[in-house]
Amino acid sequence: MPEEVRAVVARTAMQPVEVVTIGVPDPGPGEALVKVQACGVCHTDLHYREGGINDEFPFLLGHEAAGLVEAVGDGVASVAPGDFVVLNWRAVCGQCRACRRGRPWYCFATHNATQKMTLDGAPLAPALGIGAFAEKTLVAAGQCTKVDPRVRPEVAGLLGCGVMAGLGAAMLTGGVGPGDAVAVFGCGGVGNAAIAGARLAGATTIVAVDVNAKKLDWARAFGATHTVDGSARDPVEAIREFTGGNGADVCIEAVGNPKVFEQAFFARDLAGTLVQVGVPTPEMRVELPFIELFGRGGQIRPSWYGDCLPDRDFPLLVDLHLQGRLPLEGFVSETITLDDVEEAFAKMQRNEVLRSVVVF
Ligand SMILES: NC(=O)c1ccc[n+]([C@@H]2O[C@H](COP(=O)([O-])OP(=O)(O)OC[C@H]3O[C@@H](n4cnc5c(N)ncnc54)[C@H](O)[C@@H]3O)[C@@H](O)[C@H]2O)c1
Ligand SMILES: [Zn+2]
Ligand SMILES: [Zn+2]
Repeated sequence: MPEEVRAVVARTAMQPVEVVTIGVPDPGPGEALVKVQACGVCHTDLHYREGGINDEFPFLLGHEAAGLVEAVGDGVASVAPGDFVVLNWRAVCGQCRACRRGRPWYCFATHNATQKMTLDGAPLAPALGIGAFAEKTLVAAGQCTKVDPRVRPEVAGLLGCGVMAGLGAAMLTGGVGPGDAVAVFGCGGVGNAAIAGARLAGATTIVAVDVNAKKLDWARAFGATHTVDGSARDPVEAIREFTGGNGADVCIEAVGNPKVFEQAFFARDLAGTLVQVGVPTPEMRVELPFIELFGRGGQIRPSWYGDCLPDRDFPLLVDLHLQGRLPLEGFVSETITLDDVEEAFAKMQRNEVLRSVVVF
């Protein structure tokens, strides 16, 4: 029987989100129905609401979620009813040119549910193919990653997007290793996860840059050894000072701002790596002296979802968390209800939270 559940929808651009009743079909072949237990509020949900991603309204928001599989469709063997899962937006296809060349983290044809959830009979577009500000959601079975059920859902769900993007930017895309000097620009959920990832990977100098003092306090708690208020002093100069005049081995841009990209570019040591994880808008431009691009060497690496493979990385990161080696609980600033999502966007814009998390 198709179900009716409460959910958060953005009907039109720039308008407050609404809590409405939506229709969720029974899972068909390759699909899973998930009872959502927790879902974080990510900046990308706000980008959707503002029409910044595309204009396929109405959107069903929410995509950093964990819950219990309730039912599966024909041919699903990877998960079963009762499994505790984190939802992911990288269910790799195994067939596309990236998968076939052994680089599935770039998969260009990831799976989502085939059937549509609906609002008054019209199809909904789920954020990042997930749509988990809903009591139940329909996804492709490959979007469900089983993890140790002893982890709290509001903590585990955050691995589904921003926290994984930050951890992976440091550990996978940036390849941070023991003894590295790392600088992270922007200390929101993504940047602080990059700091936590750099610490886990053995970096010995971790410089956090932000323009908000509260964010820098959080950065210290996640492992920053030095902090810089980018509104008060030049971050490039400060990073050189903290690294014996050399610059950082890995600089991570987690804002999505061309000026910050330039700072991260110049704050590197020779042959250093710049990881771009902040998402730009279409009108943004960067301009660099061409000779500096060549002369400084190294790498410039955009990072999509931290180059993660959910089935490989989520269980491992949950295990590290349960062993006390990865303080994921520090990202949960508050737990809220479905009715509070609009207010949570405002808190995010006022820089009051790392993550508000809806619990059901
Ligand atoms: N690449 C991916 O796969 C991926 C995944 C999730 C999110 N993101 C993106 O990562 C970015 C960060 O996400 P978030 O959730 O952490 O956002 P956030 O708004 O919580 O954090 C951004 C931080 O940047 C700081 N900041 C703003 N201007 C700055 C400046 N000039 N210098 C230094 N710091 C500055 C803000 O004070 C804030 O702390 C966003 O662009 C988001 O869309 C990318
Ligand atoms: Zn693929
Ligand atoms: Zn997200």
